[in-house]
Amino acid sequence: MSLLEAKSVTVRFQGHDDAGRRCLWAAVDGVSLSVAEGERVGIIGESGSGKTTLGKALLGLEPLAGGEVSFRGHSLSGMGGAVLESFRRGAQMIFQDPMGSLNPRLTVGSAIEEVLAVHRLVPRLERKNRVRELLHQVGLDSDYAGRYPHEFSGGQRQRIGIARGLALDPALLVADEPVSALDVSVQAQILNLIRDLSVQRGMALLLVAHDLAVVNYVCQRVLIMYKGRVVEEGLTADVFGSPRHPYTQLLKSAVPDLDDSGGLGALPRRLEKTNPPNYPNFIGCPFAPRCHCVTQYCFTERPELKQLNTNHRVSCHFV
Ligand SMILES: Nc1ncnc2c1ncn2[C@@H]1O[C@H](COP(=O)(O)OP(=O)(O)O)[C@@H](O)[C@H]1O
Ligand code: SF4
Ligand SMILES: [Mg+2]
Repeated sequence: MSLLEAKSVTVRFQGHDDAGRRCLWAAVDGVSLSVAEGERVGIIGESGSGKTTLGKALLGLEPLAGGEVSFRGHSLSGMGGAVLESFRRGAQMIFQDPMGSLNPRLTVGSAIEEVLAVHRLVPRLERKNRVRELLHQVGLDSDYAGRYPHEFSGGQRQRIGIARGLALDPALLVADEPVSALDVSVQAQILNLIRDLSVQRGMALLLVAHDLAVVNYVCQRVLIMYKGRVVEEGLTADVFGSPRHPYTQLLKSAVPDLDDSGGLGALPRRLEKTNPPNYPNFIGCPFAPRCHCVTQYCFTERPELKQLNTNHRVSCHFV
């Protein structure tokens, strides 16, 4: 059984169509995915492709307009009581800017203790020790517990965010672009930390990124998103080794040193266009206006996500 299973998840927001009429459009459009216990899965896509919205929807932080999410076989929509409590503990999210989720007036020790207190997992007298242990695990001096968020660098604050995410010993950590706000010099350290913690704890990781090299380095499997949909999914080695969807091919060609570097290759700015919304009356392949393989057929028929083999799915008429 998968740890997390999403079926046709759709999230809609109020917006306006080309003609300026109010409409509901899909920021996440029928996404299905599964994450096994201990598995590291990446989600790649340009800004606005719906990655953060999907991450939140998977954790029950964004209402679904359609589809279903289940955690350890229990649907989120029907959860209550002990099952809901165990989901809230078991699935945690860390964000790009940990400052946003840290109260500037609380010491970082108190911020982590707060999480332990809310879920009553650790007896009061043991909480301080647990905080010190968590800080140590993320590579910080345990004495830093008494300091305030502004006294730390960006990289250290992200470590604190990770310590807080780990406090409840989750089975799944959703990390939403955890290094994109950090200096390149500390990005690799934080990624190493996240990867090592996932391996050591057998903790599944859903890593949201707009950076191929990051996902290539950390994840076993990857989903490529475009305008709220999955256009390609598979083992990282297959998808990046021989990308089949024209969009993945475009991404790969923009990061030519992916294979040998293991370094950090963010998408060039020119590929960081914000996607126009996915209007309800949209037909055809959303990638058609940018596709080098496009035909007239692509403008009228929407491609399904086809299974190429057990591990590889692609949404293109010509694959
Ligand atoms: N609460 C919201 N209300 C309206 N639109 C939103 C909201 N949150 C996100 N969006 C829009 O949904 C799209 C996807 O956003 P997001 O999930 O943040 O993308 P990503 O994380 O891939 O950059 C964007 O166009 C964004 O402006
Ligand atoms: S369906 Fe057509 S437009 Fe879409 S990715 Fe395939 S070739 Fe390109
Ligand atoms: Mg985002």
